[in-house]
Amino acid sequence: MFEHLTAQKPDGILMLMQMYREDPRDAKVDLGVGVYKDATGNTPVMRAIKAAEQKLWEVEDTKSYVGLAGAPDFNDAMVNLVLGTTVPRSSVNSVATPGGTGAVRQAFELIRMANADARIFVSNPTWPNHLSILDYLGMETVMYRYFDDETRGVDFDGMIADLKTAKKGDVILLHGCCHNPTGANLTGPQWDEVIKVLQDTGATPMIDIAYQGFGDGLDVDAAGTRAVAAAVPECLIAASCSKNFGIYRERTGILMLVANGTDKAIAQGTLSFLNRQNYSFPPDHGARLVTMILNDDALRTDWMTELEDMRLGMLSLREQLAKELETRSGSNRFGFLAQHRGMFSRLGASPELVVKMREASGIYMVGDSRMNIAGLNAETVPILAEAIVKAGV
Ligand code: LMR
Repeated sequence: MFEHLTAQKPDGILMLMQMYREDPRDAKVDLGVGVYKDATGNTPVMRAIKAAEQKLWEVEDTKSYVGLAGAPDFNDAMVNLVLGTTVPRSSVNSVATPGGTGAVRQAFELIRMANADARIFVSNPTWPNHLSILDYLGMETVMYRYFDDETRGVDFDGMIADLKTAKKGDVILLHGCCHNPTGANLTGPQWDEVIKVLQDTGATPMIDIAYQGFGDGLDVDAAGTRAVAAAVPECLIAASCSKNFGIYRERTGILMLVANGTDKAIAQGTLSFLNRQNYSFPPDHGARLVTMILNDDALRTDWMTELEDMRLGMLSLREQLAKELETRSGSNRFGFLAQHRGMFSRLGASPELVVKMREASGIYMVGDSRMNIAGLNAETVPILAEAIVKAGV
């Protein structure tokens, strides 16, 4: 029967990782996959993670299963990190998941269980894997306008006009912060307007927050998510620990369902049921490290300090790049790079120019011209700026 299998569409981001690895040139710059790198190109294990791992080795006395929903202290700590004090815990249900993608997948499945006809409104553009999973699950997607190719900011009027066409039973997928792939984000007052549309239409928000702490700080980055969760009767939140704790391969994430009008035993039970069907118990190693850090004053302080250093490093690379481009192009048309937040910026170059920069200058960015800012350092910023101007972007 397996001879009937057909080739799957390759994932553009993963394909680029492979191409970069196989490029024999020394002078090449990897701005592809969303993995944080320091100035030497290394993705470090954060200090607090190392310390927690050492401690865990000493105290862990079993590898037996945790609960289907994950370890309750992990879920509590993550709910606190994402939601702060904004939402009464009696209305929050949660399950630990394998990474943020695991949470996104469970959320989509939960939506399909609740309403097989739900349409999922996604930003144009969004993380390609959102679309791929929705397509795989056979769920209907509707694109809402988001990125303005001219200004490289948010086309907010277009976004609001499109969101107003949603109705009760539909889901609006929003990026909590650090929009992937564009780097263009909503302001506080814009979040308030989106909330108003959610309230008027009755559509359910789903927030994917994978980069909390990479934009404007842990609390500011969660402010939109918190405001939404506090203002509507129900909401889904998929959060990842891959980036802000640097534990990509440990697959650590959480799905939260804030549901005021739903029987709690049913809401929580359905989340646990979905875990059981898909992979039974969620992974625990990364979740335990995160819990140890969030619940220990010294580890938490050290983690926050290192995370803040990473964030500020990315910001200064943004500023350096915008400045280099201003000097080389003699215009401020690249100023948006310093305004964007998070790991990514969409440069706004055509696919042809993206290929040209790769072939001529060894610059690897995703086909839609998404650049991972953390892939730069002080030496490669001028190289990138030169390549961008030379290609005629
Ligand atoms: C990305 O967008 O590069 C990351 O989220 C990694 C991935 O799995 O695509």
